Amino acid sequence: MAHPPPVTKAVIPAAGLGTRFVPATKAMPKEMLPVIDTPAIQYVVEEAAAAGLTNVLMVTARNKANIEDHFDRNIELEEVLEAKGDEDGLASIRASSEIASMHYVRQGQPLGLGHAVLCAAQHVGNEPFAVLLGDDFIDARDKLLQRMLEVRQQYGGSIVALMEVEPELVSAYGVASIKPTDTEDVVAITDLVEKPQVGEAPSNWIVVGRYVCDPAIFDVLRVTKPGRGGEIQLTDALRTLARTDRSEGARQDGGGVHGVLFRGRRYDTGNKLDYLQTVIRFACERPDIAPEFVPWLRGYLASLSPDNR
Ligand code: UTP
Repeated sequence: MAHPPPVTKAVIPAAGLGTRFVPATKAMPKEMLPVIDTPAIQYVVEEAAAAGLTNVLMVTARNKANIEDHFDRNIELEEVLEAKGDEDGLASIRASSEIASMHYVRQGQPLGLGHAVLCAAQHVGNEPFAVLLGDDFIDARDKLLQRMLEVRQQYGGSIVALMEVEPELVSAYGVASIKPTDTEDVVAITDLVEKPQVGEAPSNWIVVGRYVCDPAIFDVLRVTKPGRGGEIQLTDALRTLARTDRSEGARQDGGGVHGVLFRGRRYDTGNKLDYLQTVIRFACERPDIAPEFVPWLRGYLASLSPDNR
């Protein structure tokens, strides 16, 4: 197979309603919830840029304007920090406007993740592209997206990230039916099952929010009917591509889906429990916070009555 074109663009869907995080999300995007002092979505944009994808299209909606503001300059605040001599603060607010070349498209109605990705079709054109969900991110040390881009260069088609969970947890996720390949951390995906019953899942490997999509996904999304929850699901479109003939010719048509088996650190900020865990893990690792925070946390935990532990 001729080498497929390289991936240069990242699409970040951030137009969902964030119903699991009300009332915080009544007037602000959940993607802007801070992990200590940095909005979760900044980590997502940094992840794309670290993989060389500096052309970023964010899919946004009503109530999401402050995402755009965050990645733009704030001259007034810069002037105030400059006058105070706060060099670190100044550098931090300038940095977020320089991570990537940001573009925005609106999803008028939250019709699902698949629909959000379809909103990117015009910007992306006929090129492969990455999708990074706006409410979770991968530890910068683990370089999942870079690995997925390499796998796309090798295998073509589309690539999803898979993480292994305990068998009793599969029913909350999209689960992949997998076959080994010659590469240790890469599997061929033969089917995807959305939220299977425990005991009926084809594996314990769940799809997490990182994808490299062949542009063929757009034609599939255009005809994908609303699925679970009445939403147009990206998983349904990927299942169609996974089920297409895996022969050489089919791959050139954009079919075929492979999975990268990921065993690194992923932080979910889209639900309350995982969000809290993310903030605490970061606080325990940050050199400016950990020396005071960790002893406090130890003391606090020790002070809890056995009923609360
Ligand atoms: P989620 O399902 O986690 O987001 O989608 P949500 O719908 O906002 O959350 P809840 O379930 O109501 O709490 C994952 C990502 O896809 C985006 C979301 O913004 C989130 O970053 N998304 C989801 C869209 O952009 N559009 C949609 O129609 C749905």
